[in-house]
Amino acid sequence: MTLRHFLEITDLTATELAQVLVLSAMPTADLGGPLAGAGVALIFEKPSNRTRQSMEMAVVQLAGHPVYTRGEEVGFDVRESVEDVTRIMEGYHRVLAARVFDHAVVQRMAAVSSVPVVNMLSDHSHPLQALADVLTMTEEWGSLSGRTVAYVGDFNNVARSLTQACLMMGAHVRLGCPIGHDASVDEVDALRRIGSGSLEHFVDPAMATAGADAVHTDTWTSMGQETEKAQRREVFSRYQVNDALMSNAAPEAVFMHCLPAYRGYEVAASVIDGPRSRVIRQGHNRMHASRGLLAFLLGVRT
Ligand code: CP
Ligand code: NVA
Repeated sequence: MTLRHFLEITDLTATELAQVLVLSAMPTADLGGPLAGAGVALIFEKPSNRTRQSMEMAVVQLAGHPVYTRGEEVGFDVRESVEDVTRIMEGYHRVLAARVFDHAVVQRMAAVSSVPVVNMLSDHSHPLQALADVLTMTEEWGSLSGRTVAYVGDFNNVARSLTQACLMMGAHVRLGCPIGHDASVDEVDALRRIGSGSLEHFVDPAMATAGADAVHTDTWTSMGQETEKAQRREVFSRYQVNDALMSNAAPEAVFMHCLPAYRGYEVAASVIDGPRSRVIRQGHNRMHASRGLLAFLLGVRT
């Protein structure tokens, strides 16, 4: 079996992404328990609700045993090197998963690991979240092809992975981000080479949401950026997804957010708690998408 890591959505081809979504939608019993008797390490340098819970349950559903470890316990590059941690843990586990501050840590793990390494969020990307996002939109519409997906706010880890996944699935992505918190010219060029979708970017959030089938946003202050919170609230103040911004989208448009959400900041309570919101379904889909991804990395195919 070929060793595969999952650090970014683009570690999959479009065909493989479609396969992961098929596996994610399959009944657990049909996946054959590929982790029987095996462990999966889940290392968290940052807090988590959804990612920890959904990954632990996905591992159990695949007949494996999750081992949760706090970042301080392993002490990447403090207690011992990333490489030593990885080489030891690969002897205990079939998969190593980590949520890290610095994306280079998961890249260094993947460089020496003989078992799959999964990125459970880094400063650069959040590909497990994007899997659940496209799974949720696929359930909503049947297919993303030709659909318009808007993302408003900070072009961060969540936005990057979402954009990659949507482009790979043939959607039109419209970003609405303030200057300085948007995708760089080079990155936009690189993103435009992904898949069969299209990418437009705007400074005006209303331009991004015009006619959109889904409107996504995320926190203005990601984990690790807490000292910038006040300044960020000022920069992003006109990027709140509220009823006025949603009224600009398609009549049936849905609202999505990876959570945790900060009501009154990046989203109005009336939107996230209203009838267009899909955030709870989206959160639940984290478990199904993680199970599908793990099964794929372990060689399960339909
Ligand atoms: N969306 C997400 O990754 O949530 P957690 O930080 O709670 O895992
Ligand atoms: N962008 C956020 C996502 C949290 C799930 C962060 O990195 O904190």
